[in-house]
Amino acid sequence: MTKTSSFTAPKGVPDYVPPASAEFVAVRDGLIRAATLAGYGHVELPIFEETALFARGVGESTDVVSKEMWTFADRNGQSFTLRPEGTAGVMRAVIQHGLDKSAQLPVKLVYAGPFFRYERPQAGRYRQLQQVGVEAIGVDDPALDAEVIAVADAGYRALGLRDFRLEITSLGDETCRPQYRELLQEFLFDLPLDEETRRRAAINPLRVLDDKRPEVKQLTERAPLMIDHLSESAKSHFEQVLGYLDALGVPYVVNPRMVRGLDYYTKTTFEFVHDGLGAQSGIGGGGRYDGLMAELGGAALSGIGFGLGVDRTVLALRAEGRPAGDTATCAVFGVPLGDAAKQRLMVLAAQLRAAGIGVDLAYGGRGIKGAMKAADRSGAKFALVLGDRDLAENTVGLKDMATGDQRQVPLDEVAAILVADLAG
Ligand code: HAM
Repeated sequence: MTKTSSFTAPKGVPDYVPPASAEFVAVRDGLIRAATLAGYGHVELPIFEETALFARGVGESTDVVSKEMWTFADRNGQSFTLRPEGTAGVMRAVIQHGLDKSAQLPVKLVYAGPFFRYERPQAGRYRQLQQVGVEAIGVDDPALDAEVIAVADAGYRALGLRDFRLEITSLGDETCRPQYRELLQEFLFDLPLDEETRRRAAINPLRVLDDKRPEVKQLTERAPLMIDHLSESAKSHFEQVLGYLDALGVPYVVNPRMVRGLDYYTKTTFEFVHDGLGAQSGIGGGGRYDGLMAELGGAALSGIGFGLGVDRTVLALRAEGRPAGDTATCAVFGVPLGDAAKQRLMVLAAQLRAAGIGVDLAYGGRGIKGAMKAADRSGAKFALVLGDRDLAENTVGLKDMATGDQRQVPLDEVAAILVADLAG
């Protein structure tokens, strides 16, 4: 075995360390909160599942399944995969726990955590990515589509994000998509396309419409679009979703060429795009997946949800010059001068923390100068300076770090003084 002198995180996997980790937490928790405010209940699910769940749920022909899965055999030879996305796992859990039989539909769930895709790493594209996602299962109501979208929009806006847009389209349903697919294939097969693109047209013709090469773009300019070939019911569903979004004041642009990387989508699909991120501009996406639950062995229930990229939202906020989150600062910093004082301050710190006040201490016995410097750097509002003589007199120095004023206060009363001061 070769000996390495230092270890680094796996390629394409970001670490979040202070102070940037505060942005990460603020984004994740802010997006979760938007969902909680709309009645979504938290689910905590495994980060690995049977490989077949994703193959069946996400679709064998997708890049996510065919090229990007982190798959491994356990010690018994059973194949598991680190979850590349959240929807399939949520469906599995809903079926397993009988939530699909619930009398109270829709079942509304929110989740957050890491997902794994073996992609070529680049700015904003990671092999371990973090999402906040919601799934609303069991009611095929355009108002629910609009709610899901509005929750994402509200989550981004509450974080201060501004320069993003919502792109939306309808992928139709089983009554119109097969016919449209044939129509599109007929159109594509008549074009002078290269072999590779022809193959793609045979397997997943929709993806050819998303081809970024100018020559292909030009060739497909007049291609038939799903949105012009929707069934009456899919069309009416889509129009109602847009109507609700208008009423809610959620701005959108219809992008009939939108292609999502997962196979389960039907009807409403959408993406949130941020232009400050370069190539990896998708900060979130989702849609309806009305056949997925039945496909995975559950009741024939409809569903809609989203996955919002936490990493990319952090980057988008930074690109706008509005980093999220406050760096973790404690309001109070203890400066002990001597061992007995240290112990007393530790007890006081525990008391104050129990009262909800953040307290940090100078450790390592570094003398008053170094400890006061640490208090300064910590950003605390108050420093507590305790020496052996103070301890004998049962007082403590309370220093206001902004003004520099320091006064002696009774040690037994300082907790109450700080609580009164900092709570207000
Ligand atoms: P997705 O579009 O594959 O959808 O991923 C959602 C979001 O995750 C993307 O918009 C992006 O912000 C972020 N993301 C994806 N891959 C990466 C990556 N390699 N690096 C950084 N961020 C990434 C889903 O996963 C669906 N499960 C969403 C959904 C829920 N649809 C219905 N319900």
